[in-house]
Amino acid sequence: MAIRNNQIIGGITWSIKEGVNSGMVEIFQMSILKEFRGQGYGSILVNNCLKDIEDFYQSRNCPLQRVYIIITESNIIGRNLYRNKGFYVAANLRHHRLNNKMDLLYAKDYLSEK
Ligand SMILES: CC(C)(COP(=O)(O)OP(=O)(O)OC[C@H]1O[C@@H](n2cnc3c(N)ncnc32)[C@H](O)[C@@H]1OP(=O)(O)O)[C@@H](O)C(=O)NCCC(=O)NCCS
Repeated sequence: MAIRNNQIIGGITWSIKEGVNSGMVEIFQMSILKEFRGQGYGSILVNNCLKDIEDFYQSRNCPLQRVYIIITESNIIGRNLYRNKGFYVAANLRHHRLNNKMDLLYAKDYLSEK
């Protein structure tokens, strides 16, 4: 959660996919309250989330393979935010959701050798 002056102004969630040994993590449900957007809080939230994930895997001595998030193609702010954190478009997801919009799977890979 992002807290400013004792007020919750945003949040982010991450989840282990298919068990910790898969090394796969999904980020989702990220949002900053409208009146606090564009002030750097989203960036801090992602930095802290990535550190939380990395620390968790290190503490479990498990390899972290990939962190990913699904972002709608038209969400330029979200896409810029994750691209600036080292994420890239790993897949285009057509018809992923009922809204018929194109979604993009943004990934940050930690292990280079497959
Ligand atoms: C996406 C969201 C969380 C970003 O939070 P934020 O606090 O506004 O983001 P920040 O101020 O930390 O900005 C982070 C980056 O986003 C991008 N960004 C922010 N505002 C932008 C704007 N108006 N236009 C284009 N890019 C923008 C920039 O790349 C910025 O990094 P930089 O300042 O280093 O260039 C917020 O806009 C939001 O809650 N959106 C609705 C929910 C949503 O789309 N969630 C899914 C996210 S993938």
